This record gives sequence, structure tokens and C-alpha cells, in this order.
Amino acid sequence: MDSSKLSLLASWMKQSKYTVVLTGAGMSTESGIPDFRSPGGWWRNIDPATVASRYALENRYELFRDFYIMRINTLEGCKPHEGHKVLAEWEKRGLVHCIATQNVDRFHQEAGSRNVYELHGNIRTVRCEDCSNAAELKEFLEKKPCAKCKGKLRPNVVLFGESLPYEALDNATHSISKADLAVVVGTSLQVYPVNQLPELCKGKKAYINLDTGRSSSQFDLVIEGSARDVLTKAEMLLD
Ligand code: APR
Repeated sequence: MDSSKLSLLASWMKQSKYTVVLTGAGMSTESGIPDFRSPGGWWRNIDPATVASRYALENRYELFRDFYIMRINTLEGCKPHEGHKVLAEWEKRGLVHCIATQNVDRFHQEAGSRNVYELHGNIRTVRCEDCSNAAELKEFLEKKPCAKCKGKLRPNVVLFGESLPYEALDNATHSISKADLAVVVGTSLQVYPVNQLPELCKGKKAYINLDTGRSSSQFDLVIEGSARDVLTKAEMLLD
């Protein structure tokens, strides 16, 4: 990895008064969770429309439920890695104001980050699609109907065809619009509207990603590498 780029990132972090981090599935692959569009990613083998959409929830509920039970079970035994912990540490030290994440695994919170905007919801909690009653994850995993109305249980994840949670998107939009520095980690930036967020930053923009072949032209600094590797090495220059 290019050490001069790491030094530049560290100096920008030190100078910045308001840094926002935007993460995607590449932030969790080193915790053992597949991403979506890399080789081996979820959408390389499954069409998201058939399992992760409003259409699937309404018309293919058993397939929808099996897919999310499988994704929830994939989290079993996985935990945040050093890179998540570095971001949480940077928040504690005032180096990072907040994290806007597309991830639904809550690893940022588990690692200690407090100001986290979940733009695509989470798969750790569930509700009834029909009466909105909060339900136990266990009931969903055991394929039970809603205890209150016998309706369909579903994770609190944003499905294709659903709008993003207003408050999370509003917070993320306001934060990145005020940022001196936006650090984008582990995302292909293929999905609207999150892929529009980086350009709202009027300050400097850094991109940390394994594949920097696409989506990198808008960035002032592009570091090709793994999230855990780059973040832990940057931390060595900051602590
Ligand atoms: N370190 C850095 N980058 C990584 C790593 C890693 N360890 N592993 C993978 N990557 C990169 C890949 O090269 C890819 O560019 O992370 C990116 C992940 O891109 P996607 O798989 O498209 O995931 P993401 O951008 O988060 O997808 C956005 O799409 O399907 C929806 O809701 C889903 O939130 C998801 C959204």
C-alpha cells in the first residue's frame, strides 16, 4: 500500500474539523460476511429482486424469509474487525463525527461507534409487515407469524422498492454536506441514493476500497486496499 497516500489521509484526518465516514459491505467482508457485487458476493448468485425486494416479501414470502434467515445465520459467530474498532476509537477521539452505513450487521455499533446512521436498516431486529408490531428475532428464525395479528414477520432492512429511513438519510445528508472530509470505505457506490452522498461533501473526499476501478473519479484521494489494513495502518499514523 502506498504509504504517502496513508500519510495524506492521516494529515487530512488531523486537520479536519468534521469528518464523516460512509461504509458499505466491503467494511464487513473481513469479518466473514460476503459483500454483494464482488466475486462470491450475494448478488453474483442470486437476483436481489427475487429475495430482497417488496415484490419478494409480498409474492414469494417463504423464499424471502429463507433468504433472510440464511443472512441472519451468516452473522452467527462473526464479529467486528480491527477496522471497525479503529473507526469507533476515532469517534471517541473526535476524529470522526459520524458513520453513515449501508450495512445491516450493526458491527459498527458492536465495535463501539455511537453516531451511526443505518441507511439500509438492519437484519438484527424484526417487525410485522401487517401491523408493524416489533417481534422477537427468534420468532422470525422459527418461521412464526406475528403473535399479535398472525401477519408476516420481516427484518427491519430496507428492501429494493422501499424508501430509506427518512431520519437516517436526512442525518447522513446534513452531516456529509457539512463535512470537511468524507472517507468512503468498502462500497461499489452502485446503489442510489447512497451513491449520491459523497458528492455532497464540499471538502476533501477519500475512497478506501479493494476495487478502485470504478466510482473513484470523484475522489481527491483513492487508496486501493482492504478496509481493515488501511484503517489500522492509518491509525498507527494518528495515535
Ligand atoms: N476492504 C475494502 N473494500 C472491500 C473489501 C475489503 N475487505 N471487500 C470488498 N470490498 C469492496 C469491493 O471491491 C466492492 O467495491 O467493497 C465493495 C462492496 O460493494 P458491494 O458489494 O456493491 O456492496 P455495497 O456497495 O455496500 O452495496 C450497496 O447494495 O444490494 C444493496 O442493500 C445492499 O447495502 C447494499 C447496497
